[in-house]
Amino acid sequence: MKVYKVKDYQELSKKSASIVAEQIKLKSNSILGLATGSTPEGMYKELIELYEKNIVDFSDVTTFNLDEYYGLYPEDSQSYNYYMRKHLLNHINIKEENINIPNGMAEDIEKSCEEYENKIKELGGIDLQLLGIGRNGHIGFNEPSDSFETYTRLVELDIDTINANSRFFASLEEVPTKAISMGIQTIMNAKKILLIASGESKAKTIYDTIKGPITPSVPASILQLHKDVTIIVDEEAGKLL
Ligand code: GLP
Repeated sequence: MKVYKVKDYQELSKKSASIVAEQIKLKSNSILGLATGSTPEGMYKELIELYEKNIVDFSDVTTFNLDEYYGLYPEDSQSYNYYMRKHLLNHINIKEENINIPNGMAEDIEKSCEEYENKIKELGGIDLQLLGIGRNGHIGFNEPSDSFETYTRLVELDIDTINANSRFFASLEEVPTKAISMGIQTIMNAKKILLIASGESKAKTIYDTIKGPITPSVPASILQLHKDVTIIVDEEAGKLL
C-alpha cells in the first residue's frame, strides 16, 4: 500500500485527479471504476478542469460506478446516476454508451447484477478503481459483514450508513435502505485502486484499514492484500497513522 498524507482537501483532490489523468494518458481506453459521496467531488472538479485545459481526454474512457440506491430512478436527484452526471459526466467528452451505473430499478435485480459483473470482465477488467470510505469502513456499499466473498448484488444498508447519508435527503425516512453494489471481489479484481479519505470522522476507520487486522468487519482492510493500492488522506483523516 502506498499511503500519502496531504495537507488538506484541496491537495487531496488535486493529487487524486492527477493520478486518474495519468492513468488515462497511459491508456486512452482505460476502464475506470467511479465512486460517489462527498469526498470525490473535489477530485471530479479538478478532472473537469484538466479536461477543459485539454490535458485529459475521456473520449475512449469507459466507466463503471461502484453502486446505486435500490428503488431510485436514474433521473432522481438523490440517485448516484444523477450525482455522477452532475459532478463529472455531463462536463466531459465521455460517450454515453461507455457509462455504466447499476440500475436501481431493474426488474430482475439478480440478472442485472450478473450482467454488470460480466460486462466488467468482458471489457478486460477495471484499470483504476476509485474508492471513498464509509465511517464504518465500507467500500462501495459493502458493509461490515462476515465475508469478503462478494460480487455485484443487492445489499442492505447499515443504520450507520443510512444516518451518515441522510444529510443528502430531506428526512431519514427518505434514505433508501437497500442498494446495488459491486462486491469486495469485484473491487479486488481491479488492477489499481485509489482510495481517498478526508476529515476527522474517517480517522479511526483509516487507521483500521491500514494498520488493523484484515477482517470483513472492516471491509476496506482487505485492500492490504491488493498489490497496487494508493491511499490519499488529508491531515485529519490521517491523524492516527
Ligand atoms: C456512500 C458511498 C461510498 C462512499 C461513502 C462515503 O455510502 N456508497 O462509496 O465512499 O458514502 O461518503 P463520503 O465521501 O460522503 O463520506
